[in-house]
Amino acid sequence: MTDIAPVLRGRWSPRSYDPIQTISPDDVSLLLEAARWAPSAMNRQPWRFIVGIRGDQTRSRLEPFVTGHSDWALDAAALVVNICESDERGIGFYDLGDAVAHMSIQAEEMGLHVRQFGSFDQQGLAAEFGIEAPFVPITMTAIGVPPAGVGPGVRERVDVDQLLWI
Ligand SMILES: Cc1cc2nc3c(=O)[nH]c(=O)nc-3n(C[C@H](O)[C@H](O)[C@H](O)COP(=O)(O)O)c2cc1C
Repeated sequence: MTDIAPVLRGRWSPRSYDPIQTISPDDVSLLLEAARWAPSAMNRQPWRFIVGIRGDQTRSRLEPFVTGHSDWALDAAALVVNICESDERGIGFYDLGDAVAHMSIQAEEMGLHVRQFGSFDQQGLAAEFGIEAPFVPITMTAIGVPPAGVGPGVRERVDVDQLLWI
């Protein structure tokens, strides 16, 4: 791990966030700009986002759908819904993941941390924001900084030789 790019080395996904820290609209614009420049099949750019920052109205509408196992995310300065324009082949899901990866690395570069999560009320959120087929809310992202003194802990990965098919 020591040889990979510092921004990748420093990335980890907090499961608790500072409940006071805020993110500015300019920061949000930068995060969206990073996602915007992700590659996608045939340059379809099949991603859309809903961003709620602490204190704004969108955030209040999002919070009821961040349920149960994901209540840790409610302390994050920003909540993002990652929406895919789905297609028969499913490549849009792949592209959305790439855009979210771009946003995550941009956040890291800005001194923020990100945890994506799939555990939220997908149907309820789609109804609240009028998200209809072919658009689907796939994941959410919590963005902020962890509370003082909270670090990554033990992070595990399979060995590199297990990544190679042959
Ligand atoms: C698509 C996706 C869905 C995830 N869903 C959840 C989730 O529902 N709850 C959660 O606590 N973490 C979730 N995570 C975070 C992963 O558990 C985390 O990235 C993984 O354990 C590796 O940790 P690291 O990011 O710190 O390296 C999700 C991550 C991704 C990419």
